[in-house]
Order: sequence, then C-alpha cells, then structure tokens
Amino acid sequence: MNSFVDFAFLDSGTGGIPYMKELKKMSPESRCVYLGDTAHFPYGQKSAEQITECASGAVSLIIKKWNPRAIVIACNTISVTSLSELRKSFAPLPIVGTVPAIRLGAKVTQNKKIGLLATNATVNNPYNKKLISDFAQGCDVFSRGDPDLISFIEHSLFTATASERLDAVRPAVDYFKECGCDTIILGCTHFTHIYADVQKAAGDDIKVVDSRDGVAKQALRVERECDGGAVLQSEHGCKELVQDMSFFATSAPPRQKREYKLLCSNFCIPWGGVVR
Ligand code: DGL
Repeated sequence: MNSFVDFAFLDSGTGGIPYMKELKKMSPESRCVYLGDTAHFPYGQKSAEQITECASGAVSLIIKKWNPRAIVIACNTISVTSLSELRKSFAPLPIVGTVPAIRLGAKVTQNKKIGLLATNATVNNPYNKKLISDFAQGCDVFSRGDPDLISFIEHSLFTATASERLDAVRPAVDYFKECGCDTIILGCTHFTHIYADVQKAAGDDIKVVDSRDGVAKQALRVERECDGGAVLQSEHGCKELVQDMSFFATSAPPRQKREYKLLCSNFCIPWGGVVR
C-alpha cells in the first residue's frame, strides 16, 4: 500500500485511464489514483452549470480522499467547460486540463479537412470553437458529437467482440470519410480506448490523433514547477491509503462492476471500488 499520491485523474467514467497509463509510461515513479464520476456519466449531455457542479463535487471528493499534489482533468468536456472555475475554486492546487488536439490535427492534415469526434457539450462549447479558430485557420473542421459511441465504450467495450467494436466506430468514421477528412481528432478521452479500432476502420489514408502525449507532458511539467503541492501534501497528509493507479468510481451497479473489473485487469491496474 502507498500513502502518497502525486496525480489524481478525473473523468466522468473510464475515458481517462489511457491518459494515466501514458503519464506512468513517462514517469513510472509518479504515484497516481483515478476517479471516474460514473454516478454522473455522461457529462457530455449535461448543461455547463451541471458539468461544473458535478466536476466540483468530484474534485472535492478527490481532495478529501487522497489530497494529491496535482489533478489531471482527463476529460475534454469538463476542461473546456469548467477548468477556469475549478482552478479558481481549488487554488493553489495545480489542475491540468485536456482539450481536443486541434493544433496537432492542423499540423498533421495535408488536405486541410479535419474531423473532430467529441461529446456534444465539447463540440458546442465556445472554448472549443475558439481553439478551432485560433489553431486550425484555413482548415475545414467537421465536428461530430457521438453520445452513443461514448456510452458503448463506457458500458460494453471490454465485453464486446472485435467485430462489435469495429461496427461501433464505423458510423463516425464513415461520416468523416464522406466529409473527405484525412485526419481525425479524438476529442473525448473515451475514444482513446478505441484508437486502434478507429484507425483500422479509417484505413491508412487517414491519420488519427489524440492528446495523451501532450497532457502527460504538461502534467509532469506543471507538477515540477508547482512544487507547492508538496507543501500542501505534507501539511494535510494523505487521507486514505491507496494502491498506485487504483481505479475508483462514484457508482458501480453489478453489471457495470464486471466491466470495470475486466478493464482493470486489461490495464493491469487495481480496482479500488466505489467512493462517495
Ligand atoms: N470522456 C469525456 C470527455 O473527454 C466525457 C464523456 C461523457 O461523460 O460524456 O469529454
């Protein structure tokens, strides 16, 4: 058992787990914990006020339970909607966000046609629209909110067959193909679970990108710069012992719990159980 948490990751569900794995790959000595606010999934279908309220509750819970040195919001929906409010409410705790990798997509595209696959809340959010106008000038960006695919990933991905996974991603990929996109940005962390499926359905002529690398690097940079986190940590202490990389959820009905346990064994991470 470890008693010290460097990074706590937050998403509405399982979406941010590949982000935690990416950070651990870069910094194996960093101690991490993960909270999926599954009681309030999906965030992408909520209003801005609801997203901020749910995310604030989840961040409070994280601080109460684990008092991490930094929080990574491994959720585009929360980040584009509520990041500045969360930073204000929980200062001086460093909070790192995750936003659609528009800049990367614009760098990668050859034909200037980019697909953005995200939640409805993200595609309609003014911050996301500003990212597009700032960083994808001269490109056509075709946005698609896909709550059905997100729900499939959250509820059934780890018990689905390979062909069910491919069938699930096809409508989104076909849409971007029809638009002539040569690049697809995965702008919801859940989609990083199906990166390989999207790439397979898209074929070699389309490049699929996401923000894992950028977010993990930024989180490590921020943690190094804000060493005040260490002071907070030692002042308040860690409230509960936690195994490194544990995945906790705010609710887990029986069928869902089976899915989560399978996910944990696939990712070689401990299932922490339900926290409230
Ligand atoms: N994984 C989340 C994101 O990156 C949101 C999924 C949801 O709760 O709708 O936006």
